[in-house]
Amino acid sequence: MKSLPPRILFVANWKMYLDSPLQAASLARELKRKLKKGAERVAVCPPHPFLFPVAAALGASGIHLGAQDVSAFADEKHTGEVSARMLRQTGVSLVIIGHSERRSQGEGEEQVAIKIERALAAGLAPLVCLGEEERDQSGSHFAVIERQLRSAVSRVSKREAPRLAIAYEPVWAIGKSAEDALSPAELQEAVLFIRKTLATLFGRAAALKIPVLYGGSVEAANAPELLTEGGVAGFLVGRASTDAGAFARIVNACAAVRSSAPSRSR
Ligand code: PGA
Repeated sequence: MKSLPPRILFVANWKMYLDSPLQAASLARELKRKLKKGAERVAVCPPHPFLFPVAAALGASGIHLGAQDVSAFADEKHTGEVSARMLRQTGVSLVIIGHSERRSQGEGEEQVAIKIERALAAGLAPLVCLGEEERDQSGSHFAVIERQLRSAVSRVSKREAPRLAIAYEPVWAIGKSAEDALSPAELQEAVLFIRKTLATLFGRAAALKIPVLYGGSVEAANAPELLTEGGVAGFLVGRASTDAGAFARIVNACAAVRSSAPSRSR
């Protein structure tokens, strides 16, 4: 079993974009060819039925396997659910939790908190998604972010906190194109707020170890600027991640700006 990723920074969320295990495995192989080995920390999150073929396709590439969701239940009598332990045994090291597309299907904040607890107990790294549905000029999105964040990590201890990663994903910016993503300045403001809240909850030292990612219409065109000026550690990418070339361009473009200004974005 692969060891836990310390800090995954580029996460591909394949959602339900792919139809078959063959397609998923071939996308994984293509990605492997296009990404420089070990250049950046990358995870791909296929749908559950494709985890195994994708794990086999990734092999010893150094690209980590992630899942898009995990059950809040730990006991056996739950038809259709997939537990954190099962994911871990399948080679998964990271799991997306609290994505807005799951919250919109009725996943509540308590459920998100329990899923995070289950993931940590099984040795998975939770990538916790949060973000407001809409934005107005009054700044009410900060209250939404704070409420979601406090609730999500309510079962996480200070010792466990460095195993978390946060993905700030304003719902209004998801699934569009680079022009619709939020601006680097708006992102920086939200990231600072998340960092401050994490520091209040876990102390500054632990909070600094938690990477804050951004997700929502990330492409190679906007990624470098969002990275350097938005102050994020990396990205959770949906649509563009199902094209190996487009995803590799995002990762490689960010690697290039990181190497020219290494201290700003980590
Ligand atoms: P998008 O999705 O990149 O297609 O906007 C991001 C996400 O939902 O995680």
